[in-house]
Amino acid sequence: MRKKTGILFSLLVLIIYSSGALAANQEGFSLSDSDCIKCHDKQPATIAARGNKHKTEVGCLDCHTEHPPEGKNAIPDCSVCHSDSPHYALENCASCHSDAHAPLDLIIEGEVSAPCLTCHEKQGVEVKENPSAHTNLACNECHTKHRYIPECMECHEKHTEDMNVDACLSCHPVHMPLVIAYNQETPSHYCAACHGEAYTLLNNNTTKHKDLSCVYCHRDVHKMLPSCISCKIPHGEPHPSKMLKKYPECGQCHGIAHDLKN
Ligand code: HEC
Ligand code: HEC
Ligand code: HEC
Ligand code: HEC
Ligand code: HEC
Ligand code: HEC
Ligand code: HEC
Ligand code: HEC
Ligand code: HEC
Ligand code: HEC
Ligand code: HEC
Repeated sequence: MRKKTGILFSLLVLIIYSSGALAANQEGFSLSDSDCIKCHDKQPATIAARGNKHKTEVGCLDCHTEHPPEGKNAIPDCSVCHSDSPHYALENCASCHSDAHAPLDLIIEGEVSAPCLTCHEKQGVEVKENPSAHTNLACNECHTKHRYIPECMECHEKHTEDMNVDACLSCHPVHMPLVIAYNQETPSHYCAACHGEAYTLLNNNTTKHKDLSCVYCHRDVHKMLPSCISCKIPHGEPHPSKMLKKYPECGQCHGIAHDLKN
């Protein structure tokens, strides 16, 4: 009982000392942001340290327009200031923005994908329209924190020891990893990891094909099979058309591209 009275008394003293009172409660008095700290030290400290735009663009009283006991709506809805964007139509803002006084301190828990797409539509489309095992992963199973970029090797083995993440990405666009494409710099021993026979045959061959890389002939897209005459230099018109009419398959005389007879 004594303790309670004591608290009430000090409160009263403080209110008077503050030379103001809580706007919504006491008529004739007004309170400014610098008064709040007299009774609430935690929130001003949080805002000072991590308030970001809630520190620079708004003050306490912009959000807390009322104060208990008279003011019943002491806590503002985010929608008072944030509306008209798909992101602001999400439910339960506080599940991620856990503290309004540190709005960019994010907690992203559980399997989260749809909310990410309110800002990253493109990646959502890529993943959905190109089904792969990654389509079944939630965005935050890889991006475990906002803006964190994972390394493929957190979850996968390399095909060859000397591959790095840039190499993985050069063949597998991560949000659609089965749309495999590669550039002309791709070294042949990358392919050899899965196509040992073709690699060995070509390396043991003694014709000019030996000096060509796999991707020189198998251009750009995985599983593409070139025709011999698609290689304009030097094969454009290797033989008289009369002869080629009679023997339409180059392989009849030359064997296979990896193991030329001639
Ligand atoms: C004289 C001390 C005092 C001052 C100054 C003061 N408050 Fe409070 N405030 C309190 C007390 C005590 C409570 C708890 C009241 C309750 O729970 O009924 C409280 C509660 C609150 C709450 C919580 C309301 C809720 O529903 O949970 C908010 C928000 C708040 N104050 C904001 C402010 C802001 C903003 C300022 C500055 C403009 C401020 N206060 C200044 C004493 C003060
Ligand atoms: C951008 C709006 C915004 C600003 C600015 C803001 N608050 Fe808050 N405040 C909230 C919200 C929303 C809550 C409800 C709890 C939460 O989400 O963190 C809250 C809760 C509180 C509480 C209740 C206790 C608690 O932490 O839950 C107090 C006290 C408080 N704020 C004081 C302040 C003071 C003092 C300032 C200025 C230094 C301030 N707030 C600035 C939005 C704001
Ligand atoms: C009184 C108005 C007001 C309220 C209420 C309010 N905000 Fe804000 N908030 C702002 C303003 C103004 C900015 C800066 C401009 C902008 O980014 O829209 C901002 C910026 C932010 C930012 C970006 C911060 C930065 O530094 O880039 C986040 C995140 C945010 N608000 C979340 C919230 C959440 C979550 C709530 C509800 C708990 C909330 N806001 C309530 C006014 C408000
Ligand atoms: C699933 C988690 C999640 C939820 C739920 C969520 N946000 Fe966000 N919010 C984020 C992330 C992530 C960012 C980006 C932060 C960054 O850029 O660092 C963000 C950024 C913001 C920003 C600043 C960028 C901008 O768009 O202006 C505001 C304001 C904001 N959120 C308000 C809200 C409001 C209001 C709600 C509820 C209607 C909400 N958020 C719900 C995760 C969430
Ligand atoms: C409110 C909007 C918003 C939401 C919601 C949001 N982000 Fe972002 N995100 C951003 C912004 C802004 C950037 C910075 C873009 C830039 O630098 O070009 C970003 C950047 C990123 C980056 C790239 C970092 C880099 O280095 O390029 C990743 C990855 C990312 N977000 C993943 C996510 C994931 C996963 C989610 C859902 C959990 C999410 N984001 C939710 C706004 C958002
Ligand atoms: C299998 C892991 C994985 C999953 C699942 C994943 N990402 Fe990514 N994401 C990455 C990697 C790795 C990068 C870096 C790509 C690069 O550098 O080319 C990235 C890059 C990004 C970027 C930066 C811009 C860009 O496209 O390079 C954004 C934004 C992003 N991801 C959002 C998302 C969203 C949204 C989802 C869910 C729909 C998602 N990611 C799912 C691994 C993943
Ligand atoms: C957080 C873990 C994780 C990360 C990081 C990750 N993946 Fe995956 N990925 C998986 C899982 C799980 C599967 C399905 C099971 C499997 O094949 O191992 C998968 C499957 C794949 C597949 C086969 C797709 C299919 O549908 O058969 C490819 C290709 C692939 N990942 C490439 C990559 C590349 C390239 C990166 C880096 C840019 C990467 N992954 C990063 C988890 C991950
Ligand atoms: C030269 C292009 C190339 C590079 C570089 C490459 N991959 Fe692949 N990857 C492929 C091809 C082609 C497949 C087989 C696709 C199929 O089965 O149709 C594949 C398949 C996969 C698979 C599916 C499972 C399997 O082993 O068949 C995973 C996972 C994978 N790659 C991860 C990676 C990772 C991680 C890296 C980087 C260390 C990487 N890849 C680098 C071309 C490449
Ligand atoms: C991770 C293993 C892997 C890697 C790396 C890989 N491939 Fe493949 N490749 C496969 C698989 C699996 C098939 C499908 C085999 C089948 O259908 O019999 C295939 C098929 C092919 C085919 C078509 C075969 C046919 O009969 O139609 C060509 C051409 C090919 N790959 C070329 C390449 C080239 C060039 C590279 C290097 C840039 C490469 N591959 C890298 C696994 C791989
Ligand atoms: C001079 C062009 C050329 C080069 C270089 C080349 N290929 Fe081929 N490859 C072909 C042609 C043409 C075919 C179709 C079958 C044939 O006529 O030999 C083929 C067929 C294939 C096939 C499917 C049939 C089989 O033999 O399994 C695979 C897989 C393949 N190549 C992989 C590779 C790899 C891996 C390399 C690099 C080590 C490579 N190729 C280098 C032209 C080439
Ligand atoms: C009837 C057998 C036969 C057929 C079919 C054939 N070639 Fe030839 N080709 C030869 C002979 C024999 C030579 C060697 C001529 C020489 O050494 O002077 C040769 C030489 C070549 C050369 C020149 C080699 C060099 O070292 O300069 C090229 C290129 C070539 N052929 C491409 C092709 C292509 C492409 C096809 C299919 C469109 C084809 N050939 C079909 C028999 C054939």
